Amino acid sequence: MPLNKEIVLSTLKNKFVFISSIALLAFIIFGVFTTYSLVQLNMEVEKLFNLSELRTRAIFQAHDSISNMESELIKLIIADDKESIRSSSVASIRATAFLDESLQQLELQIPDNSNVAALSKNLSLIKPHRMNIIGLARSNQDLKALNIVNEISPITDVISKNLDKIILSDRRNLNGLFKEYKRSEIKILILFVSIITLSLLLLVFVNISLQKAKTALSKLNHELEKKVRSRTEALETSYNEIELTLDKLQQTQGKLIESEKMASLGGLVSGMAHELNTPIGVCITSGSYLFDSTTLFEKKYSEGNLDETDCEALINSNKDSMKLIISNLNKCSHLIQYFKKISVQHSSDKPELLMMKKCVEETVMNTRTQFKEIKSRASIHCPKDLQVLHVKSALHEIIMNLVMNSLQHGNDKGAHREIEINIDISQSEGMIKLIYCDSGKGIGTENMDKIFEPFFTTKRCEGQNGLGLTIVYNLIMHSLKGHIKCRSNQDRKAIFELEFPDNL
Ligand SMILES: Nc1ncnc2c1ncn2[C@@H]1O[C@H](COP(=O)(O)OP(=O)(O)OP(=O)(O)O)[C@@H](O)[C@H]1O
Ligand SMILES: [Mg+2]
Repeated sequence: MPLNKEIVLSTLKNKFVFISSIALLAFIIFGVFTTYSLVQLNMEVEKLFNLSELRTRAIFQAHDSISNMESELIKLIIADDKESIRSSSVASIRATAFLDESLQQLELQIPDNSNVAALSKNLSLIKPHRMNIIGLARSNQDLKALNIVNEISPITDVISKNLDKIILSDRRNLNGLFKEYKRSEIKILILFVSIITLSLLLLVFVNISLQKAKTALSKLNHELEKKVRSRTEALETSYNEIELTLDKLQQTQGKLIESEKMASLGGLVSGMAHELNTPIGVCITSGSYLFDSTTLFEKKYSEGNLDETDCEALINSNKDSMKLIISNLNKCSHLIQYFKKISVQHSSDKPELLMMKKCVEETVMNTRTQFKEIKSRASIHCPKDLQVLHVKSALHEIIMNLVMNSLQHGNDKGAHREIEINIDISQSEGMIKLIYCDSGKGIGTENMDKIFEPFFTTKRCEGQNGLGLTIVYNLIMHSLKGHIKCRSNQDRKAIFELEFPDNL
C-alpha cells in the first residue's frame, strides 16, 4: 500500500515539475520575445530621433540662414565702404547658399510636405530680389535696395512662419513618437506583468491541485488501511475458524482411523473365527461322538452284553473320530501359525547382513522343491555382491509366498503348463527394487484390489486360506519398511513390484 502511495505522489510531483517547467519555459519565451520587441522598438525610436534631429538641424539651419540673409542684406544696404559692402554681400550669398542647402536637406528629410513645398516656392521668389539688392547696394542705391527688402520682407515672414510650422509639426511628430513609444512600453510591461501573474497563478493552481490530490490520497490511504485492517481481522477470524475446523477434522480423521482399524480388526477376527469354526466344530462333533460311543460301550460292559464285534466297532469308530480330531486340531494349529505371521511386530528375529542373490535363490529352490509335481523354471537377476541388512525370515516368507502363489494359482484347473518365474533385483540410492513376475494365468482386474485383504482367496474349496499375500503385504510395510504394488498384464502374467531400503 505505501508503495502505491509513493508511486501516486511521485507521479503528482512529476506532473507538478512538468507543468512548472512548461510555465517557466513559456515565461522565458515571452520574456525573450518582449525584450526583443523592446530592443526593436528602441532601435526604431532611436532611428526616428536621429532623423528628427537631422530635420530639426536642417530647419534651424534654414531659420538661421534666412535671418542671416536678412540681416546681411540690411548690413549691405547700410554699409558705405567698399570692404563692408563686399563682406556683407559675400555673407548674404553664403547665407542664401546655406538656406538652399537646408532646403535640400528638408526636402530629403520631409518629402511631399506642403510646408516644405511652400518654403521652397517662397525662397525661389526671394532669390532674384536678393541679387537685385546686392547689385543696388553695391551701386549705393540704398533706397531702392531698402524698398526691395521691404518688398520681400512679407515673403521672409511667410518663410519664417513656414519654418515655425515645420518645427511645430516635427515636434508634434516627435511627441506622437514618444507617446507611441510609451504606449508600446506600457503594452509590453502589461504583457510582462500578465505573463508573470499567469505563471504565478498557474503555479498556485498546480500547488493547490497537488495539495488537494495529497489530501485525497491520504484519505484514500486511510480508507485503504481501514479496509486492510478489517480484511486482516476477517482473515484472522476465518483463519481461526479454519484452525478450529482443521482440529475438528483431525479429530474426526482420528476417529475414522480408529473405526477403520476396529472394522479391519473386526473383519480379521470374524475371518479367523470363521476359519477356526469348521475344524473346531468337527473336533467337537467327533469328541461328542467319541463320548457317546464310549458311554454306550461302558453301559454294555456293565450289563455284560459286550461281545467281540462291539469291541472292534468301538475301536474302529474311536480311531476314526480321533483321526478327525487330530487332523482338524492340526488345521487349527496351522491356522494359528498363519495368524501369528500376520502380526509381524511380535517377531523377535534380529536383522542380519544378507547376500541378496543367495538368499532369494535358496528360498525359490526350497519352495519349488515343495511343489515338485508342478513344472516350473526360475531365473534370478541380481548383482552377486548385493548385501542387505534385514530379517532373514521376513525376506524368506515374502519370496516363498510369491513363489507358492505362482505355482498354486498360475495354472487353470487341470492344466499342467510349466510356470516360469522371473526375479529382477537392483539397488539405487539406498533402495532395493525387486520385480517378481511369473508366466501364469495372471490376476483378474476384478480381484486386483482384494488380493492383499486377509482371507481373500479364489481357492477356498481347495483348502487355501487367503492369508499369503496379507502376510507378504504386512512384512513389506512393517518389517522391511517398503511398499508393494501388483499388476497383471495381457500376457496373463502376475507382476509384483517391491521397493524397500537396503538396510533398516
Ligand atoms: N501369481 C499369481 N497368479 C494368479 N493369481 C494369484 C497369484 N498370486 C495371488 N493370486 C490370487 O490372489 C489370491 C490371494 O492370494 P493369497 O496368497 O493371499 O491367498 P491364497 O494363496 O489363495 O491362500 P494362502 O496363501 O493363504 O494359501 C489368490 O487366491 C489368487 O486368486
Ligand atoms: Mg498364497
